[in-house]
Amino acid sequence: MQIRFTETVLRDANQSLIATRMPFSAFKGILSTLDRAGYYSLECWGGATFDSCLRYLDEDPWERLRKINEACPNTKLQMLLRGQNLLGYKHYPDDAVRLFVKKSVENGIDVLRIFDALNDVRNVEVAVDAALEAGAEVQGTICYTLSPIHDLKSYVETGIALKKMGVQMLCVKDMAGIMSPKQAFELVEALKKEVGLPLAVHTHATTGLAFMTYLKAVEAGADVIDTAISCFSGGTAQPATETLDYALREYGYETGLDQNALRDINAFFKPYRADCLQSGLLNPVVMATATDALTYQIPGGMLSNLVSQLTAQKKLNRLDDVLAEVPNVRKDLGYPPLVTPMSQMVGVQATSNVLFGKYKTVSKEIKAYLRGEYGRAPGQVNEDLRKQVLGDEPVLTCRFADTLSPAVDEARAHLGELARCDEDVLSYIAFPTQAEAFLTRRLEARKKVLPYTIERTDE
Ligand code: CO
Repeated sequence: MQIRFTETVLRDANQSLIATRMPFSAFKGILSTLDRAGYYSLECWGGATFDSCLRYLDEDPWERLRKINEACPNTKLQMLLRGQNLLGYKHYPDDAVRLFVKKSVENGIDVLRIFDALNDVRNVEVAVDAALEAGAEVQGTICYTLSPIHDLKSYVETGIALKKMGVQMLCVKDMAGIMSPKQAFELVEALKKEVGLPLAVHTHATTGLAFMTYLKAVEAGADVIDTAISCFSGGTAQPATETLDYALREYGYETGLDQNALRDINAFFKPYRADCLQSGLLNPVVMATATDALTYQIPGGMLSNLVSQLTAQKKLNRLDDVLAEVPNVRKDLGYPPLVTPMSQMVGVQATSNVLFGKYKTVSKEIKAYLRGEYGRAPGQVNEDLRKQVLGDEPVLTCRFADTLSPAVDEARAHLGELARCDEDVLSYIAFPTQAEAFLTRRLEARKKVLPYTIERTDE
């Protein structure tokens, strides 16, 4: 029996616990140890890391990836990709998606975990195709949520659709940490039996279910689980690598992990964790077990957003009404999974319905959703609501990206000398403001050092 581990300290744990503020310099010294620890893969890129590099850390995200790749020749590097949304919240045209995926693989990514917030497989098709064409391994991803229309059958259907695209693996992604041990067992069992692909399971320790959930998922046949080295584990991050390694080895599973390496990795990150606590970057609140998500069946991030919105409007006494309204809004929208950006959109609408009257105001994001710009709703959208909001405006039946014109050439022309390579152009397409500021700083710095460089070259 075998179970493999994906280590998340560089991406999801970093993102969930310290808002993705870990600079390359903080983990450079441990990369060679991470490389020999025996992980299935090292999740180290994508998600919010790209944005954070440009916006807060003054790092070129591509260069970070190349440096990790250089230091980790033996371990697969993994990234998280939001399908047609790449690393952002809007849909990008196909030429940008294809080039982004191709360059990610060229710069060192081996495994792409590709998902769509609505589980609309049309929104992952192009990214999956480009990744397979580049020779990468693709984890076709199923976003896990609780709703009257999401059941084993619907998840298996999504799994089969992803398999048809040629993905080598599936991933069940529980962003909110609400998947229970029982549900995990049944879902993994069904997917393994009905789809028959290797399967990774991803959850968060937020509600305290995660250790139990992974154990049952592994018993049901999961092949890979996502964990974080212990001092960056727990709370809104993943459960601890060493703990699951310990428990599963006792059951006779081969994990392939080197316990000495794990000890060194944990010892390495401990002082950095202490610094994060000291500076306030690591807030003890995110480390706590938060079971409200189980009571209200909404993710923890969404709940805290609702509380802060209502507090700001001095209407915290309406929280129960808003929580009761959330399922109604979700039903009207055809039960979108409550993951970013849908969790924010549903939360804002439920608040507005309670404070100002049912759909008296509707955000432009919800309007776009009702027009079909985010993809196909998982269930039936309330047609009366759609008519009320859109009037006679047509509803999109095709993929939204089919309506977008190519972006790469235009971005390249716009940047001119600021862009040295396709990677720079892609940074700009993904995060125009942050990337342009970053590339401008880089160009200015280069101009400053230019005479010095020439001198040395002439020697
Ligand atoms: Co996650």
